Amino acid sequence: MEEKKITISYNQYSDSGELPIEESELLSAASEALKSSYAPYSQFRVGAAVLLDSGKVVLGSNQENTAYPSGLCAERVAIFAAKAKYPDDKILAVAVTAQTDNFEVDKPITPCGACRQVIAETEKRQKSKLKILMRGHTGPIISVDGVEALLPLMFHEEKLKK
Ligand code: THU
Repeated sequence: MEEKKITISYNQYSDSGELPIEESELLSAASEALKSSYAPYSQFRVGAAVLLDSGKVVLGSNQENTAYPSGLCAERVAIFAAKAKYPDDKILAVAVTAQTDNFEVDKPITPCGACRQVIAETEKRQKSKLKILMRGHTGPIISVDGVEALLPLMFHEEKLKK
């Protein structure tokens, strides 16, 4: 037996002013997307924005359902909307934020497992990584260059492709 270790690295910023302008604008777009959140069950509004290589920005927000698993996270709404409308554009980055009236979201929101898997597929499909920018309503911003940092040892079985 041999113990192996995986280390991940991420960037942390105390303020959006430290970010390149397009990344800071993408986080603002994610905040804008909070307005279209439909979250009557959790009251936890999540906003996401994706930046395409054409410069376009596509927004998404969480859309809940009385049959809970039928709802969808903000990140997947944004990524699927972007790929449905602009299938040939590469996604360069996705930004996510959240807000609720119930407590202060003062830590960065990180994508759930299913959203990480969808980001992984997006990277595979377009053969390039996505920058993932994460922030709460207040507090620091963190970012990773590619989903590998959030999903080590991810499933990718090339033999499934016929
Ligand atoms: N949610 C997202 O939209 N993105 C995440 O990264 C985490 C969770 C949503 C799903 C549900 O509508 C609400 O947040 C509470 O879990």
